[in-house]
Amino acid sequence: MKDKLLQIKELAVNELKLVQDLDSLEEVRIKYLSKKGELRKLLSKMGKINPKERPIIGQLANEIQSEIENLYDEKSRELKEFAKMMRIKSEKIDVTLQGEQKQIGHQHPLNMIYDQMIDIFVGMGFEVKEGREIETDYYNFEALNIPKDHPARDMQDTFYISEDIVLRTHTSPMQIHTMEDKNKNEPVKIVCPGRVYRRDDDATHTPMFHQIEGLVVGEGVSLSDLKGTLELFFHQMFGESTAVRLRPSYFPFTEPSAEVDITCVFCGGAGCKVCKNTGWIEVLGAGMVHPNVLKKVGYDPDLVTGFAFGMGIDRMTMLKLKINDLRLLFTNDIRMINQF
Ligand code: PHE
Repeated sequence: MKDKLLQIKELAVNELKLVQDLDSLEEVRIKYLSKKGELRKLLSKMGKINPKERPIIGQLANEIQSEIENLYDEKSRELKEFAKMMRIKSEKIDVTLQGEQKQIGHQHPLNMIYDQMIDIFVGMGFEVKEGREIETDYYNFEALNIPKDHPARDMQDTFYISEDIVLRTHTSPMQIHTMEDKNKNEPVKIVCPGRVYRRDDDATHTPMFHQIEGLVVGEGVSLSDLKGTLELFFHQMFGESTAVRLRPSYFPFTEPSAEVDITCVFCGGAGCKVCKNTGWIEVLGAGMVHPNVLKKVGYDPDLVTGFAFGMGIDRMTMLKLKINDLRLLFTNDIRMINQF
C-alpha cells in the first residue's frame, strides 16, 4: 500500500510538472485528486490492511494528497498568469480608431417654432396661458356664439367624449376661460398655445394639431391694433418685407372677422405653386371680439372692445422650415427631425 501511494505520488508529480495548459492541468486533477481519482481509489481499499498500519498509511496518504494539491495550485496560478499575459500581448489597442458616437436627438421642429413664436409674443408683452384639451360644449361652442344648430359647427366636427364633452376644436375656449377668471372689464393680453382636434386627415390636416390663440381686450382696442400686432409678429417671424393683409371672413365669435394672409414665403409674392400664383398665403383667422361673447362673460361691450386671433403652429412650422407635408411632423422619423 505504501509503495503504491509513493508510486501515485511520483506519477502525479511528474505529470504535473509536464503540464503546459489549463485543460491538461484539469485532466491531471481529475485523474489524481477527484473523488474518483487514483488516491481515493486506493484509500477505499484501506479496510483490507492491518489495522495497526492504518494510521501510518492514512497519515502518509494525507501528506501525499496535500503535496499534490500544493503543486497543482502552484501550476494553476502559473498557467493562469501566463494565459493572461498572452491575452494582453495579443490585444492590440488602436488609439486612432474613432469612438462610438451616441445618437442624441434634438428639439422637435414644431417645438423650435413654437418657442420662437412664444418668444415674439412675450416680447410684445403678452402673457402665456395654457388651457385644457377636453372642453364642454359650452366653452368650445356655445359661449363662442355657436349654438347647437349653428352651421359653423360642421367645419369643426370633433371627437365627442359624451354629448356635452368634446376634444376642443380650437384654442378659442380660452378666450372665455380667461375673461371669466378676470374681474368685469379687466384688460386682457394673452396668448394660449396648445393642441386641438378635428375630424380631418390629409397632407395639410391632421386630427390633432396645434394652435395659438391671441386675445387683447381693453378700452379702445381696435382693428388697427390687430393688424399692427400681426405685422409686428410676422416681420419678426419672416422678415421685414413680409406684408400682411386682412380679407373679410366669418366667425360666429368675432365681428368683423377676417382671414389673414401674408406674402408667400416661398416666392416672396411673385406667385408660385404653393400660393397658387396669388402671392399670398393664408395663415390665420381673426377679428374683433363679438359683443355677444363679451356679454357672455359679463364684460360690457359698450365700455371695452377686443381683438382675437387663432394661428396654426404646425402651419407656421411648415412655412418657416419649408416642410411640404404636415403629417411628417408627427411620424417621429429621426431623419426628418435631424435636418433642422
Ligand atoms: N378659432 C378659429 C379657428 O380655429 C380661429 C379664430 C380665432 C378666428 C380667434 C377668430 C378669432 O378657425
